[in-house]
Amino acid sequence: MRIVVTGGSGMLGHGFMRRAAPQHQVCGTYHTHPVEIPGCHLARLDITDEPKVDSIVKSLRPDVVIHSAGLTDVDACERAPEKARRINSDGTAIVAKAAEQSGAHLIYISTDYVFDGSKGNYVETDAPNPVNQYGASKYLGEEYAQRNCTATAIIRTTMFGLKLAPQVGMMESMVAALRQGKSMTRFVDQYFSALYTGQLNEVILRIAERRATGVFHIGSVNKISRFEFSKAVAKVFSCDAADIHPGPFRQMAGLARRPQDTSLVSAKISDQLGIAPLAVHDGLYQLKHDWQGLGSEGTALH
Ligand SMILES: NC(=O)c1ccc[n+]([C@@H]2O[C@H](COP(=O)([O-])OP(=O)(O)OC[C@H]3O[C@@H](n4cnc5c(N)ncnc54)[C@H](OP(=O)(O)O)[C@@H]3O)[C@@H](O)[C@H]2O)c1
Repeated sequence: MRIVVTGGSGMLGHGFMRRAAPQHQVCGTYHTHPVEIPGCHLARLDITDEPKVDSIVKSLRPDVVIHSAGLTDVDACERAPEKARRINSDGTAIVAKAAEQSGAHLIYISTDYVFDGSKGNYVETDAPNPVNQYGASKYLGEEYAQRNCTATAIIRTTMFGLKLAPQVGMMESMVAALRQGKSMTRFVDQYFSALYTGQLNEVILRIAERRATGVFHIGSVNKISRFEFSKAVAKVFSCDAADIHPGPFRQMAGLARRPQDTSLVSAKISDQLGIAPLAVHDGLYQLKHDWQGLGSEGTALH
């Protein structure tokens, strides 16, 4: 397959490209962080620049476009809702139109944050009701993707993974803090279905190979609280968990509202695509293994 990945410099995009490159012809785009990924061509692209998106997608003639680019900082989206909408919603419409014109299959990476978190265990037929600007802009992006591209798969997910150095994400910061013995408080009753990006990459490839369309929830088999997740990270990285303190869920002053329980049920993907249930602990061990393998190419583990 010829695959184009928007957001190739992002946490999900760079790992997906690395994973797919040995078997497929993979091109990616970055916006402000130029990166090199072995076996892949990358081009600079702003997804809100419609003529540029059109010309790049047309010239690459993809079979599938993985649309992973987005404004993912939830609090930045809250501070600048127009920007969030321009990138996450309008940008998605532009990418979807370009995919349609090329006859490509579109896979749009959406989020569990389309839900308000009041009930948890969300299935694909549950009604989204985002509580913040990020979730609202991504949900509108879902609508625009489906409206503008005939063969569209929407993936609602939540993930943990590794950023490309010198960027630092949630996992790098958490492991560093645990190693330094820093005290942290994590909510015991805020839940998510955390999936390692390496696990998600395999599912995305399967969806691309099958040219599957529709909405899919993809998360870990069991939901996990933020507190339990931090303790699992400490265990996998052989750190002392004594400095992780449990606390009750609450909204934080000055930050975007967060949903409390956005756990996803991934039964549809198992039934339709034969994907085995994915466990959080397996994902954490895979991440540790991959981190060691990145060596000087990525963020150093030691
Ligand atoms: N991380 C999560 O926990 C999570 C959970 C659920 C869903 N998602 C969704 O999954 C996708 C990937 O997330 P991620 O964590 O890998 O994101 P990320 O690490 O923040 O990367 C975002 C990517 O989008 C690119 N980008 C931003 N604005 C752009 C623009 N105007 N034009 C073109 N590219 C632009 C960035 O390029 P540069 O860095 O080069 O500027 C980067 O490659 C996103 O759509 C996100 O909404 C993420």
